[in-house]
Amino acid sequence: MSEFFTTLVQWQRVHGRSGLPWQGTRDPYRVWLSEIMLQQTQVGTVLAYYPRFLARFPDVQALAAAPLDDVLALWSGLGYYTRARNLHRCAQAVVQDWGGHFPGTAQALQTLPGIGPSTAAAIAAFCFGERISILDGNVKRVLGRALAFAGDLADARQERQLWQHAQALLPPQPSADEMVAYTQGLMDLGAGLCARTRPQCLLCPVAALCQAHQQQRATDFPVKTRKLQRRTVPWCLLALQRTDGAIWLQQRPHSGIWAGLYCLPVFDTLADGLNALAPHTDALGAPQLQPAFRHQLTHRELVLQPVLLPWHHSAPLPLGADTGRWVARCSELDIGLPAPVRQWLQAQLPD
Ligand code: ADE
Repeated sequence: MSEFFTTLVQWQRVHGRSGLPWQGTRDPYRVWLSEIMLQQTQVGTVLAYYPRFLARFPDVQALAAAPLDDVLALWSGLGYYTRARNLHRCAQAVVQDWGGHFPGTAQALQTLPGIGPSTAAAIAAFCFGERISILDGNVKRVLGRALAFAGDLADARQERQLWQHAQALLPPQPSADEMVAYTQGLMDLGAGLCARTRPQCLLCPVAALCQAHQQQRATDFPVKTRKLQRRTVPWCLLALQRTDGAIWLQQRPHSGIWAGLYCLPVFDTLADGLNALAPHTDALGAPQLQPAFRHQLTHRELVLQPVLLPWHHSAPLPLGADTGRWVARCSELDIGLPAPVRQWLQAQLPD
């Protein structure tokens, strides 16, 4: 069905997205960076981060040589920080194991930290014109519908099958430019017309070729039974505040939620927090509960309960003295911080 391919290529060239800062380049560093940023983040948000990141780390050598803390600081607010840690590890692997050049096939790209099969395919198609199909979440929907693919994508074997069908949609010898337009076209359809709940089939260039649309069952595909279950986790955030207004931040452990980022000290409950400070009760004022708020992660929903706790600052630092720091103003928040903690601090501290 290479009519699907040619139709999508032609449509993308006229109606698809163009002029995004990561398009029109075949530099794998730039394409890789954009693909990692775009994995779980909207284009509009990435547009703000991407140029800043490139200005600070113009090439893979600069990124590999930087301290992880600098990378996390520039990533701050994009969320899913494992991406930033893998980005740094990947840059170091490219420099150490590949002589500073990204490998030129999807198969080899997949061996690098943080590059899964679909991201590897995107980089290989965009940069090297490789004949390979992407299959991210949006594209599973586009192709699941185009092929009316009835297999349950919660099952890895079915997903592999869909990938084989996706490969079969490619003509035997596409040009590099065609692979670029096709790959972008799949992404553009998935992000736009082929929406999850209200697909705009009347405007879709491949509607006539789309088996789900032909059966008037577009939203029945793709099939996926396993729904993501998010567990709710209450976290007490202790905001130890000196009399001059400065608040104590502690670096998170190097694994787990918000690994390596600065954060208010976290406890399961306020009682646990006060317990940890028990040797210092003479330095503490009365705890003041602040409004709680929620924050969604991939597998958890955090219920964050900040508690302001006055700290009479002649006493020694109580928690994580070697990995923490006092922040007194918003201008000092140019460090790696989870977005909701940054927002909360911005409301507490002067400019
Ligand atoms: N999402 C993932 N990759 C993308 C790209 N190259 N352009 C726009 N959105 C994307």
